[in-house]
Amino acid sequence: MSTFFPGTEQLVLCHDPRAGLRAVIAIDDSTLGPALGGVRMRAYPSEEAAVTEARRLAAAMTLKNAAADLPYGGGKSVILVDGPIVDREALLRSFGDFVRRCDGTYLPGVDMGTSVEDLAIVGEAGAEVACDEEDPAPWTALGVFAALREAVRTVDARDDLDGVVVAVQGLGHVGARLARLLADAGARLVLADVDAARAASLAEELGATVVGPDAITGVECDVLAPCATARVLDATTVGRLRARIVAGAANDVLADRRIAGVLAERGVAYVPDFVANAGGVIHIHALRARWSPDRLEEAVLAIGERTADVLARAAAEGRSPLEVAESTARARIVRAHPDPAARLRRAAA
Ligand code: NAI
Repeated sequence: MSTFFPGTEQLVLCHDPRAGLRAVIAIDDSTLGPALGGVRMRAYPSEEAAVTEARRLAAAMTLKNAAADLPYGGGKSVILVDGPIVDREALLRSFGDFVRRCDGTYLPGVDMGTSVEDLAIVGEAGAEVACDEEDPAPWTALGVFAALREAVRTVDARDDLDGVVVAVQGLGHVGARLARLLADAGARLVLADVDAARAASLAEELGATVVGPDAITGVECDVLAPCATARVLDATTVGRLRARIVAGAANDVLADRRIAGVLAERGVAYVPDFVANAGGVIHIHALRARWSPDRLEEAVLAIGERTADVLARAAAEGRSPLEVAESTARARIVRAHPDPAARLRRAAA
């Protein structure tokens, strides 16, 4: 198990020409429980690209679920789309049959390109599905808010966000909610979205400033909150960065794990994405385990404590927060492994 070059415990290549299905199920690690992770449906330039994405995203889910103290391993699946889908229901049923054959090891949820309704069809084939029938975004936003607040507390030794300048990139389901939570807490906001009208209307509501989508990563601010697409911090954008803290919802924020080292060297506190954005998976578990709303809120707000711990240990140990968060998640998996020999092998890996 690793973040960007995963080992992958099990890889299932699914092919059903009658249903027009080509899909990949990647189970990265199931030590902590069924490998929970969404079903992504989109076009890929090649089958290899689909396999690579499924494995990479599955590995990230392993870390996210372990870091959030949830009883799930990490998995992800992708359904390859090339051209118009003739019979979506037949395609999803066929995919559901492949998931069923995984015998509970893979627990699929919604991801880019699939909906709660799609997952219900997947489930009809007899596979268990993790359906978040309510929108998880409010919980994701609350978790990111908790992470961001604790990052400011740790870095600046202050308890409030009054006047703290936060640049929010992406004002969709999560970003807009995060912006409102931040505005309520007194933060000053700089907003950007490729949808200019969306940015303008939220800015008017919150009294915020708007910049263009290309400018947001270079805005002078205390915190950059990436809540849009993946891999926004690369060799170029990291050079332009004028934030002291990075904490947001977007998965896969770093184009390359070496960027975590660059950020640490520059004194930028980076809250690993899989730590900050776990509110959605915590919500899935809360629904499955029938937690009370109070218990769910407490578990999501605990993302703040985890953030403080990761940042404090990174500073004390001279490591990047990414290294600290990964090693904490891995240690939990190693401790949980039932086979002592495998525990030793994993600890040494
Ligand atoms: P969304 O699709 O509702 O919102 C994304 C927003 O970003 C849209 O308003 C879009 O116009 C904007 N955008 C796209 N490209 C942009 C760019 N280059 N610059 C500025 N804005 C851009 O997505 P959602 O649900 O808000 O998720 C945001 C991020 O958080 C995604 O990376 C997602 O994978 C991640 N995430 C979301 C969770 C959830 O509960 N929705 C859970 C965990 C992670």
